[in-house]
Amino acid sequence: MLRSLLPLGVALLGATSVLAVDPPSCSLDKKCPEEAPCCSQYNQCGVGAFCLGGCDPRMSFSIDSCVPAPVCKDKTYKMDSLDRYKHISEYLGDSSKVDWVGQGEPLLYNGHTLLTMPPKSVGTVLATTTYMWYGNVKARIKSSRGAGVVTAFILFGDVKDEIDFEWVGVDLNTVQTNYYFQGITDYGNTGNLTVDDSYNKFHDYEIQWTPDEIRWLVDGKVGRVKKRSETWNATSQQWNFPQTPSRVQISIWPGGLETNAKGTIDWAGGKIDWNSDEIKKYGYYFATFGEIKVECWKTDKAPGTNKGISYYYNDISATNNTVVDSNKPTILKSFLGTGTNMNKGDKAQSGSASQSSAVHAIPGGGVVGSGNTPGVDGNGGSGSSGGSGSGSSSGGAASNPGCSSDGFVQNCGQAATDGGDGNNSNNAVRGADRTLGASAFAVIIGIAGLLFL
Ligand SMILES: *[C@@H]1O[C@H](CO)[C@@H](O)[C@H](O)[C@H]1NC(C)=O
Ligand SMILES: *[C@@H]1O[C@H](CO)[C@@H](O)[C@H](O)[C@H]1NC(C)=O
Ligand SMILES: *[C@@H]1O[C@H](CO)[C@@H](O)[C@H](O)[C@H]1NC(C)=O
Ligand SMILES: *[C@@H]1O[C@H](CO)[C@@H](O)[C@H](O)[C@H]1NC(C)=O
Repeated sequence: MLRSLLPLGVALLGATSVLAVDPPSCSLDKKCPEEAPCCSQYNQCGVGAFCLGGCDPRMSFSIDSCVPAPVCKDKTYKMDSLDRYKHISEYLGDSSKVDWVGQGEPLLYNGHTLLTMPPKSVGTVLATTTYMWYGNVKARIKSSRGAGVVTAFILFGDVKDEIDFEWVGVDLNTVQTNYYFQGITDYGNTGNLTVDDSYNKFHDYEIQWTPDEIRWLVDGKVGRVKKRSETWNATSQQWNFPQTPSRVQISIWPGGLETNAKGTIDWAGGKIDWNSDEIKKYGYYFATFGEIKVECWKTDKAPGTNKGISYYYNDISATNNTVVDSNKPTILKSFLGTGTNMNKGDKAQSGSASQSSAVHAIPGGGVVGSGNTPGVDGNGGSGSSGGSGSGSSSGGAASNPGCSSDGFVQNCGQAATDGGDGNNSNNAVRGADRTLGASAFAVIIGIAGLLFL
């Protein structure tokens, strides 16, 4: 469901250069160019945040273009504060300071975190800054409700391995489970579990993931088991089984957006009603998240370790024997950095103002739902046509309807006026502010030439 990014939210830096074009797209067959080497979760190329969480080494310029991913940490997230949440335009990879990064409008309510989706927005997504390489994750959740409104609690890897719980807002007595190997679509992978009123009642949803099986639990009861041994693909001679480090992602997203593929809208229970009682009463659709607990897989030898600082891949086959648990650093000095030049933009490294090229540094295009969306034709990691509206590949990103030509305006121009205060000039970044909220169309540019003034 990747949609083309509209040339909006143009950020202006020092009035010298404007970047109004879409970032280049990327797929397995079309890797990113050298100047914008990192292929984001939304299958677009850039630097900075494009190289952090979600960066796909298989589709990036080189296998080391992406920044290494922080290893698993056992952790209980209370979700009663947003102190350790940052918008993706404020995070450079230090997972010791930030637990969640995201886009959209998370809110606190009664000691819980609400992920909201105001009218005509694309919702909200949060992802952990550390990765799980097998292990257990349990979350206390009340889903959203309403036709076309989807809540997701998933594990999502940079090479698009994925394990899902998803709620479609027309059926509050079912939670759908799913998994993907490297984003390859297989409609046979889904399975439904029964749940009692997912909207009004908290339930505990848990994924237990080992090299041999995935178990989906609701309130401590195993509802579904998928064994790796059932997933052999004789053609590719591989297990089509999720096996690589993955972030926990929670989201609310508009499956029923009019501009989505028909298959997606149908799967999501129909088109979204932006004048529903829910919207009238609260001003947004929302899903409620209580405590989320991550327990890393305990093992002494790969796969599944978390001894070092970071994970990276040493081969683009991106199977579990190609993941290295390493001591490589994970933090960029600025949004101009990439995996192969992590100190770029460092003030201390003073250089001369030579170049003035503009590249995208914050993946925009609204918000991720689940990585992969049932019911979308042509979905999948092979993404041969990563272009506009092709629905190639994961991300579940929708274009920002608030900024589209359909007339609704949600502060789309704000990014342009956001830029002039001279504050962030050390990282040369400007962009859609988080007050853009769900629209969060964060096209942000870095201009190398300004760095060294
Ligand atoms: C799961 O439930 C949904 C309705 O909530 C239904 O449309 C879908 O076909 C079911 N899937 C399976 C695999 O039973
Ligand atoms: C098996 O692997 C091939 C080659 O990678 C792929 O095209 C096919 O979709 C896979 N089959 C399934 C059921 O995933
Ligand atoms: C992952 O690693 C385990 C243990 O080394 C191995 O048995 C398994 O076949 C590998 N592949 C997958 C898909 O888990
Ligand atoms: C930049 O913003 C921070 C936080 O708002 C503020 O404390 C700081 O003084 C600002 N720096 C400049 C140079 O304006």
